[in-house]
Amino acid sequence: MPFSMVRSDITTMKVDAIVNAANERLLGGGGVDGAIHRAAGPELLEECRALGGCKTGQAKLTKGYRLPAKFVIHTVGPIWRGGGHGERELLVSAYRSSLELAAAHQCKTVAFPLISSGVYGYPKDQALKVAVDTITGFLLEHDMTVYLVIFDRTACTISGKLFDRIAAYIDDNYVDSHTDEQEQRRRELLFRREAAPQPCAAAPGGLNEALEHMDESFTQMLLRKIDQRGMTDAQCYKRANIDRKLFSKIRSDVHYKPSKPTAMAFAVALELPLEEAREMLGKAGFAFSHASKFDVIVEYFISQGNYNMVEINEALFAFDQSLLGG
Ligand code: APR
Repeated sequence: MPFSMVRSDITTMKVDAIVNAANERLLGGGGVDGAIHRAAGPELLEECRALGGCKTGQAKLTKGYRLPAKFVIHTVGPIWRGGGHGERELLVSAYRSSLELAAAHQCKTVAFPLISSGVYGYPKDQALKVAVDTITGFLLEHDMTVYLVIFDRTACTISGKLFDRIAAYIDDNYVDSHTDEQEQRRRELLFRREAAPQPCAAAPGGLNEALEHMDESFTQMLLRKIDQRGMTDAQCYKRANIDRKLFSKIRSDVHYKPSKPTAMAFAVALELPLEEAREMLGKAGFAFSHASKFDVIVEYFISQGNYNMVEINEALFAFDQSLLGG
């Protein structure tokens, strides 16, 4: 999965490069800067001393020393001064310079903290949006796996209203595992009958199209939908946050059976209405389960016609679920 958000301590991550949210002196400090220097050992400071500082929005690379990561990319984010002093542009530049430096050193895996969102006071929700937009934009043109490390939960706050709406949808639909088996099975059967695709022309393609493509495999339906949407393969798998290698495996095997999150990610990337999303999942041997919060949340977004992968992943993250994608 090219981009994912993880909750971890960046100093423990075994990636090619971790990014340090440093200051212009590059001589260490508090926050993640302090944690990285402590974990890397004194040689890191020695090498930093020789770098002669770093301008805000730029990035410099050192070795990782005692860290599990091979390199440390030191970048300096802007200090938040209310938003009217080019802070956003400088923060975008800090992410881009770090990504370009990582690519220049053939790094395949990179982990970022949420730059400027701590001591430098950048509002966390805006810092998160800048991070996600800049990283995912870069990954449209580059093959790399990037992790955005969320160290404290407050950093990943979806709007309260959206959180409440999803929580209500989960309450209405989520059947937790302690529910009486018999009752759950009865309810699911009932749900399936109610939600079964009604044979009406209103559903895009309707029953006829579904019957026409009954024996179509997952791969065939995926490729047909990509063509129908006028998308390229790359546009589709990048929007689904699926890496190129996995997509070519699927494309080259007409009977390929993807994982459930992968099948869902393609349904979202293709912006399929709920019925067709169910059909695509069915071809991979799955169904939206109301015994899974992950499924209920993804089904919520599709039922609302919201296919914004970042918002869906932020919601999954907020409800402690794994993320959508490969
Ligand atoms: N792993 C991952 N993320 C972390 C860790 C860690 N071990 N420790 C802190 N963070 C997170 C914080 O929760 C915050 O979301 O890193 C993000 C950035 O916070 P800061 O480290 O305070 O960095 P920043 O806001 O960019 O301020 C930089 O602070 O530490 C000093 O020397 C640094 O002067 C510089 C300034």
